[in-house]
Amino acid sequence: MWPFWVRLIHWGVAGACVYNFWLSDEGEELHRLVGYGASALVFVRLLAGVIAKRPELRLGSMFKALGSIPGEVTKLYRREPLSLTRGHSPLASPVMLGMWACVLGLGLTGWMLEWEAFFGSEGLEELHEFIANGLMVLVGAHLAGLVHESISHRTRAWMGMIDGRKKTD
Ligand code: HEM
Ligand code: HEM
Repeated sequence: MWPFWVRLIHWGVAGACVYNFWLSDEGEELHRLVGYGASALVFVRLLAGVIAKRPELRLGSMFKALGSIPGEVTKLYRREPLSLTRGHSPLASPVMLGMWACVLGLGLTGWMLEWEAFFGSEGLEELHEFIANGLMVLVGAHLAGLVHESISHRTRAWMGMIDGRKKTD
């Protein structure tokens, strides 16, 4: 269901985010390289989201899923099981799109920090850190969603990006 290359991109992006947020030192060259690498991987994934034929990979399906969010929130409120669609579920879609936007935003603001015009700009540094914190909030929501899906549907949802399989309705 999730092709090998999608899983490879997932773990590359996840590893880069963890490294740059938790492990790298301020101003380190590797921080920049890893950050640009993450942006490049997200760019490839988004490109595939536009040209791929498989519906679960398409960005269009993710945007369409946004329309089902109110219904899903009602189900959550009533403690009913959420939909398990092929591809990302309606509540997962905005989280995924948000994580991709943050990684690209970090690549852009990080790159701008190297421009002479913004060198040492505290405002831009704060914006970069703000996006990084926002990304970590979304990662928290992503992992909470996987735990919720695993419990409510009695499935091992976290395995999706390891063995590529996903339980669907
Ligand atoms: C910093 C950490 C992480 C980031 C930034 C991240 C980001 C993402 C993104 C962007 C997607 C969408 C993938 C795509 O459509 O190509 C995704 C999906 C997924 N991730 Fe993560 N992830 C992280 C950690 C994890 C961890 C630790 C696990 C499991 C142990 C995990 C399991 C999954 C699964 C199962 C999906 C597919 C969900 C679905 O079927 O809708 N992720 N993740
Ligand atoms: C996944 C992508 C990225 C994440 C999660 C991330 C996260 C962060 C965080 C949390 C800080 C603050 C570190 C601290 O103050 O100790 C920081 C600082 C910084 N980042 Fe990134 N970053 C990413 C990508 C990039 C890229 C692509 C560049 C540029 C080429 C870059 C350049 C910088 C610079 C120059 C600083 C130092 C700013 C300062 O002095 O506070 N980052 N980044």
